[in-house]
Amino acid sequence: MADKIEISVEKGLLEKTPANVLVVNLFEGVKIPAGATGAIDAALDGLISKFVIGKEGFDGKFGKTYLLPTHGKIAAEKVLVVGLGKNKDFTPNRIRELSAKVIKKCQKMGNAKKVISVLHGAGIGGYDPEVSARMIAEGTFIGCYSFDKYKSEKSPKKVDEFTIVDMSDENCKKAKAGIKKGKIIGSALNFARDLSNEQPAYATPTKLAEIAQDLKDVETKVYDIDEIEEMGMGAFLGVAKGSIQLPKFIHIKYKGANPKAVQRKIAIIGKGICFDSGGLDIKPPSSMLNMKDDMSGAAAILAVMNALKDLKPNCEVHGIIAACENMPGASAYKPGDILTAKNGKTIEIDNTDAEGRLTLADALCYACELGVDEVIDIATLTGACVVALGSTVSGIMGNHQPTIDKLIKCANSGGEKMWQLPLFEEYADSLKSDIADMKNTGSRMGGAQIAGVFLQNFVKKVHWAHIDIAGTAYIDKPYKEFPKGATGAGVRTLINYIMM
Ligand code: BES
Ligand code: MN
Ligand code: ZN
Repeated sequence: MADKIEISVEKGLLEKTPANVLVVNLFEGVKIPAGATGAIDAALDGLISKFVIGKEGFDGKFGKTYLLPTHGKIAAEKVLVVGLGKNKDFTPNRIRELSAKVIKKCQKMGNAKKVISVLHGAGIGGYDPEVSARMIAEGTFIGCYSFDKYKSEKSPKKVDEFTIVDMSDENCKKAKAGIKKGKIIGSALNFARDLSNEQPAYATPTKLAEIAQDLKDVETKVYDIDEIEEMGMGAFLGVAKGSIQLPKFIHIKYKGANPKAVQRKIAIIGKGICFDSGGLDIKPPSSMLNMKDDMSGAAAILAVMNALKDLKPNCEVHGIIAACENMPGASAYKPGDILTAKNGKTIEIDNTDAEGRLTLADALCYACELGVDEVIDIATLTGACVVALGSTVSGIMGNHQPTIDKLIKCANSGGEKMWQLPLFEEYADSLKSDIADMKNTGSRMGGAQIAGVFLQNFVKKVHWAHIDIAGTAYIDKPYKEFPKGATGAGVRTLINYIMM
């Protein structure tokens, strides 16, 4: 759960503001600090320049920190000097990453209740204070996160207050706006992470539907199994058959700040496999271990739809999730079965573990009938994508280059990485079936693109992009601002995309 931390901005002098910890910064290689850090150095009689840099050799490398006591020379009890790295490498993304590190460090101290900080990177010639503050807030929210719901002993004492202190009214005003946005995005991320980190016995299709129904300022329709059948979603239903958990088809609609004059109409679809055992083509234990995360796409969609009430974009946004489990129950679909998707296309089941694309097939058909201009799906879809791009880069593909380009841009500014994979028609060959319109799997080689080509069969008359987050949704070791576990992959990209 995200901690209850109060992030705010206060007009004042850094050296006169009481706090347990004051965070200042230093670019790599700087010997005599200027700006806010320089003022603190002067107030501390040169402790930073002469001792921390001069004697201790603190070099300002990115993410490095040095904690020193102030002995009453300024109002804060301690100063935390953080390295910003090389000036030329400094970006807003680095402010976010750094802020996550800072808050983790302060939490570990145990006795840092109130932390104050400079606006990293917003000095003369630096970033807009709004951007800087937004990154600080995002990073602080991300860094504060821990999933300790099921721990008897919760993580110990935490930071209560994190305050950006600045002397200028103008900067404070901008910083306030930045914090507001950063908080919305930070909490959306943590919302998604909570859901993906949950045990599969909790995050069931029914639970996802309940969460969707509780969202504010949107209209939610949940289709039950009979209605799913009536809609002709044979591919989705085929996957759902092997589980005792009933499937739910979830459609959340946000009408836009001014519904009569919306700028764009977008549908976002999240893969919602609440547990992927592989089905009858069952996975080996090591591959099944994290398969509770196979609804991370759905978690991202719920998080984004939940954030719209605060972000208030003037576009129509549809959030769509075909939620079910992929289980090898007695009634499970079998290799060799032929499923008919909502658009009438028939699919011969080659491998029951390629279930995500089947549920997405029907969701894509549904989305394309909504009269939207753009459809984006996000899914933990293929191990092949993980092999190709690793666990820090998501795959992206689609039928409209400008949409893909925009999404990649939104990913980059959000601190995510995406790389485009091609959807050449050659990939379709391996999906050919002797007795149906297609098979659900083809060659293992190029598996991420083959899955993309499969999905394209269910896309009609819209700009479409498919994001494969199989590698990025859930990580086994800490990376940048994230500890191991769910990352909320796609949330920042989709929010940036909707807000552009
Ligand atoms: N949910 C998996 C993909 C996945 C793999 C997500 C690793 C996260 C980490 C998906 O349903 C799956 O099982 N895909 C198969 C497809 C294959 C049978 C064509 C895969 O990638 O092995
Ligand atoms: Mn699978
Ligand atoms: Zn899956």
